[in-house]
Amino acid sequence: GIPALDLKAEINRLRTEKNAVILAHYYQDPALQDIADFVGDSLDLSRKAADTDADVIAFCGVKFMAEVAKILSPQKTVVLPDLKAGCSLEDSCPPEDFARFRRAHPDHISLTYINCSAAVKAESDIIVTSSSAEKIINQLPADQKILFAPDKHLGAWLNRKTGRDMLLWDGTCIVHERFSVTELLKLKAQHPAAPVLAHPECPVGILDLAHYVGATSGILNYALNSPEPVVIVATEPNIIHQMQLKAPHKTFIGAPGADGNCGCNMCPFMALNTMEKLYLSLRNLSPQIEVPEDVRVKAKVSLDRMLAMAG
Ligand code: 13P
Ligand code: SF4
Repeated sequence: GIPALDLKAEINRLRTEKNAVILAHYYQDPALQDIADFVGDSLDLSRKAADTDADVIAFCGVKFMAEVAKILSPQKTVVLPDLKAGCSLEDSCPPEDFARFRRAHPDHISLTYINCSAAVKAESDIIVTSSSAEKIINQLPADQKILFAPDKHLGAWLNRKTGRDMLLWDGTCIVHERFSVTELLKLKAQHPAAPVLAHPECPVGILDLAHYVGATSGILNYALNSPEPVVIVATEPNIIHQMQLKAPHKTFIGAPGADGNCGCNMCPFMALNTMEKLYLSLRNLSPQIEVPEDVRVKAKVSLDRMLAMAG
């Protein structure tokens, strides 16, 4: 390997030399968050990718996020440090099966979570993120029939929040499914005043114990603004890095899995990206994200609707 200090300097040098912008999701390793030009949730990262005037986007996140960057900014070179950084939600929704689901319900429109492949986006009507879904649904006519894919927990939570009856695809996030209700109850008993903040990809048993449910950006805001000195965080624990940076005097505790600690709730896909792979991807401009032009043009329609309706 290459020593850590050199890596930082080399990444900084290559960023300037290649006119690159480094975008990172909150679930990335803290070293990647620290070197990024911008850290954000899925919607923020999409907007940044659409707006940047850099020639190269180095995307520290998972593949569907880097694909969104390429779909919105096709003239840019988009690199992903590790092409195997996928997502269990994307895996749960193969494009052929999704097309069959749509054909079986021709009177429904399809509202699709951004955690899916470019091919599924191309067959969708409107894309949503967890931060924008409620606002977008509320702009649709009350009697509009809706299919929601691929996250069934997010879909069920949105149905509850909006009073809709969307038909749900049976997909889940393997990370957010690991939180244990029993262990969370024990942790709450130890910290009775601590608010529990949960991502809507969590199963309903966890959401029912939460004081706040929202996207990563909302969870971060709530954690920083809460007057409580201890906060319990039920989402991927790397986000705690941003909380500690901005509120070092507070204590942030990752919600536990069945083994009683939060280490098992790391996203194994996000964890594939490392400083060394980021360095190599900038140096070699590889691996690059490519989206077939016919798929890209169709996927951009559903993504543009999201950007317009999210405001
Ligand atoms: P948000 O950052 O949009 O809340 O998404 C969370 C997530 O699981 C991304 O994979
Ligand atoms: Fe996918 Fe879950 Fe990882 Fe997010 S945390 S990238 S939804 S597997």
